[in-house]
Amino acid sequence: PAPRVAIVGATGAVGTTLIELIEQRGLPYRELHLVASSRSAGRTLTVGGEEYEVQAIEEFGFAQADVAFFSAGTSVSEKWVPVATAAGAVVIDNTIAFRMDPDSPLVVPQVNAHELDRLPKSGVIANPNCSTIPLVRLLRGVEDRWGVRHAVVSTYQAASGLGYSGMDELHESSRAALQGAGAEFEPRNFRPSLAFNVIPKIDRFLDSGFTLEEQKMLQESRKILGLPHLDVTTTCVRVPVANCHSEAVYVECHEPVDRAELIEVLGSLPEVVVDDAHDPAAFPTPAVVGSSDLVHVGRVRITQSNPRAFWLWLVADNLRIGAALNAVQIAEELVERGTL
Ligand code: A2P
Repeated sequence: PAPRVAIVGATGAVGTTLIELIEQRGLPYRELHLVASSRSAGRTLTVGGEEYEVQAIEEFGFAQADVAFFSAGTSVSEKWVPVATAAGAVVIDNTIAFRMDPDSPLVVPQVNAHELDRLPKSGVIANPNCSTIPLVRLLRGVEDRWGVRHAVVSTYQAASGLGYSGMDELHESSRAALQGAGAEFEPRNFRPSLAFNVIPKIDRFLDSGFTLEEQKMLQESRKILGLPHLDVTTTCVRVPVANCHSEAVYVECHEPVDRAELIEVLGSLPEVVVDDAHDPAAFPTPAVVGSSDLVHVGRVRITQSNPRAFWLWLVADNLRIGAALNAVQIAEELVERGTL
């Protein structure tokens, strides 16, 4: 029979996208439970034409779920994922809480679906960081053909990485900035204000001088690709874009790279489209890509000084590719294997 599904964080930006994708893709379920904080308890949401009442997490019995998607923040996962797994649910967790746990696989289905061949001891499958997912999907193809010597990545990350509250703050701060000096605005998530600005700091600073977001991209890429010595270094930047992360990616390979072949290799990866395949001046942007289930690539160019190195630009919907879609695709793989 189809699994009983719970969505923790159902009222948030990722949770809402998850619900949309479950409807669109027809993930089978025989029961659906929508869970959030007590602030949302009693609200009703319509899924697949049926009304569901949102339940407070404190009131929810996880024994009613075969699989629980968590995207309600790291502290919620730290506290409630163990409760869910103890009650017998398989958890697909979208936070950092279990990503580096050796007993919990960190899965991008297009890269390492084989990790799902058996259910993990911990009962938890971790969903990677939103900027890491599109990056490793491309690096997999490059590694297999040319070998990656090292990669340097700058990210341009949207406000929706911080959920609805991030998107609302971008709009409010932009409005205040346009109104001029008199308008009051107190930043909640982004300091300094993100309006008409770019901020080279996402998540907290570490002693190394890198941010936690930058460290996640290194550690998670190594774990997902199974390349413990992969040399990838990043600068993560928040930009005043509502949704869709972009990345400028420089890769130096072991072998010389031919542009036409690179485009062919990237374009043949699952759910990847190379926008400049036929027109080198074509390129994706967040506003043009919108809500897309594809990783969009453009600006593919071999460096003039080194025939083994190239640059590319990628854009991926962080709520979908970087979060909800990856989680749903993990669930689909589990259903296909009969483990759910
Ligand atoms: P709620 O809407 O009741 O606050 P976003 O990422 O868009 O900010 O959404 C966060 C999601 O996580 C929302 O669904 C939110 O529910 C939920 N959430 C936040 N804090 C808690 C909590 N302490 N317990 C359960 N769910 C929570």
